[in-house]
Amino acid sequence: MTTRLPDDFYDRIKPRLHRRIGREVRLARRVLDLGCGSCDLVRYLAETYGQQVTGVDVASGSFPRRRRTADGGRFRCLRRDAAGMRFAEDGAFDAAVSMWALHEMDDPAAALREVRRVLRAGGELFVMDFPRGSLAQRLWNEDYYRPAALKQLIRRAGFQQVQLRVIERGHVMWARGYRPASTKSMKQKEPESCHG
Ligand SMILES: C[S@@+](CC[C@H](N)C(=O)[O-])C[C@H]1O[C@@H](n2cnc3c(N)ncnc32)[C@H](O)[C@@H]1O
Repeated sequence: MTTRLPDDFYDRIKPRLHRRIGREVRLARRVLDLGCGSCDLVRYLAETYGQQVTGVDVASGSFPRRRRTADGGRFRCLRRDAAGMRFAEDGAFDAAVSMWALHEMDDPAAALREVRRVLRAGGELFVMDFPRGSLAQRLWNEDYYRPAALKQLIRRAGFQQVQLRVIERGHVMWARGYRPASTKSMKQKEPESCHG
């Protein structure tokens, strides 16, 4: 039986997912959001946990004009491709998050390798995206990953202890992985060529 879900399903679950991410990264001081869109998650983390949060997105049209939290803290929204974050030094962030954006990136493998570079050793990455065949596919018909392919993509970018769960009644993938302490011995992996 097909479950009928409202078209605004994703807007409805967004606050819940923000809280979920927040609980995971609350101890990080410097957080990066890849494909931040309108910076809602960036603002939420900065406001709730007082973190230094930087959002990057190739399009700046949805960035808020005012980049301050209610209590006067600041957050950053930068127009950048996640695959080339030259503004950030190696190890500049303690945690990185990406919500519903990886499938849109031209070179997601390069973006993930770049995240590995800008994360400190032991820093954690959280990725949320829509699985292939989910409601999102019916609504927007984009090229979504299968869970196994997303997991492999994150692993190949050099992350360790990669875990993936499908949550929200099968409509959202939730993946995490750690940047290893040393990447010296790691062979550079070929970029993924497809989402299959
Ligand atoms: C579906 S939106 C999600 C936005 C936001 N994360 C949210 O939860 O509402 C995907 C975003 O990814 C951005 N994006 C696509 N390719 C990107 C890239 N290579 N680097 C950074 N952002 C990218 C798009 O511009 C868009 O804002």
